[in-house]
Amino acid sequence: MQEAGLDANYVDHGFGIFPANAGGLPFSADTIQSTGNPVTDLYENMAAEKKAKATYEYLLNLIDDPDVADPIKFLREREIVHFQRFGESLRYVQEYLERNRVS
Ligand SMILES: [Fe+2]
Repeated sequence: MQEAGLDANYVDHGFGIFPANAGGLPFSADTIQSTGNPVTDLYENMAAEKKAKATYEYLLNLIDDPDVADPIKFLREREIVHFQRFGESLRYVQEYLERNRVS
C-alpha cells in the first residue's frame, strides 16, 4: 500500500472502498451536474463521457503492465459507447421537444 501511495487511504479506510479522485479529493455531490433541462444535462453527460475517456488514455500512458492496461482499454471503449448512447438520447429528446413545442 505504501509503495502504491495508498498508505494514507489505508490508514483511514483499510481495504474498504472510498471514492476519491486521483488527487485524493473525496467524492461529493458537488461533482454532480444537473440543471433539470434535459438537453443541457445530456450535453453535460456527453462531456463527462469524453472526460472519462481522456482519463483512461492518461492512465494508459502511465501503465506498462498488459494485465492492468487491457481492462482499462475495455473501459475506455465503453466510454465511447456511452457517449454515443447519450447522443442518441439527446436526439430523441430534441425530436420530442420539437414535436410537442407550444408556440
Ligand atoms: Fe461512461
